[in-house]
Amino acid sequence: MNHPEIRVQDLHKSFGDNHVLRGIDLEIGQGEVVCVIGPSGSGKSTLLRCVNLLEEPTKGQVFVGGTEVTDPDVDIDAVRRRIGMVFQQFNLFPHLNVTENLTLPQRRVLRRDKAEAARTAAENLARVGLSEKAQAYPSSLSGGQQQRVAIARALAMGPQVMLFDEPTSALDPELVGDVLAVMRRLAREGMTMMVVTHEMSFAREVADRVVFMDGGVIVEDGTPEQVIGNPQHERTRHFLSRLLDPAMAEVEEEVEETEKGTSDRVGKD
Ligand SMILES: Nc1ncnc2c1ncn2[C@@H]1O[C@H](COP(=O)(O)OP(=O)(O)O)[C@@H](O)[C@H]1O
Ligand SMILES: [Mg+2]
Repeated sequence: MNHPEIRVQDLHKSFGDNHVLRGIDLEIGQGEVVCVIGPSGSGKSTLLRCVNLLEEPTKGQVFVGGTEVTDPDVDIDAVRRRIGMVFQQFNLFPHLNVTENLTLPQRRVLRRDKAEAARTAAENLARVGLSEKAQAYPSSLSGGQQQRVAIARALAMGPQVMLFDEPTSALDPELVGDVLAVMRRLAREGMTMMVVTHEMSFAREVADRVVFMDGGVIVEDGTPEQVIGNPQHERTRHFLSRLLDPAMAEVEEEVEETEKGTSDRVGKD
């Protein structure tokens, strides 16, 4: 049996009085792709950020590749090297060209020599289909191309797992497909991936599992067919109906408002 590549146990995170993560248990096996969905503010980003220690959990444990990353004595830099992270904002250095964006972290963090860093950069640019942009500056690239560079930059560090936080949310709709295609390919190559996304067709097609979060807990965890196709909880159904059919969601909201109005808001408006 595969050991889980990521294991999260009874994870809690508070910001002051705001108890954001309220006991998350999650295992992601080697080569597994898990999509995390849920409403804004439900704690999805905080969960990802606790996995690579951008946030310090308040309670609970996180293991990556068998190492407890929440152990106070852990080498945080070593942990982060194993975990690639891709954000909604690409965060490329504007004054460096694409190759330099990829070689700089390899040289600084991994202490690779110039030749090896350049070779690894070229390999990973090819992987995301951007070899011809090696000398380009970020400002000359589309958002989709910049995000593919950001993915290549993460891959060039040789991570064991990749975390994606809404990687296509900042993109124009026509540019989303190319980024998802790169992620689909990574999944096929066997990369362990945790992907926060609103792209339900991607989740259905690529994810081994879908996790629905709401209010800092995991409400449902199952195959895409189960969680998206046949959700068991009202909160999941409500979230999906809003996402898939915003017009319908508005009607639902109006109905809810009306229902509220007749019970506890009589006389208002
Ligand atoms: N660094 C932070 N400091 C204070 N509050 C935060 C911080 N990061 C997130 N939060 C709060 O945690 C909650 C969950 O946020 P987040 O994890 O970003 O949700 P999601 O990604 O699902 O939209 C929100 O109430 C947010 O305001
Ligand atoms: Mg978020």
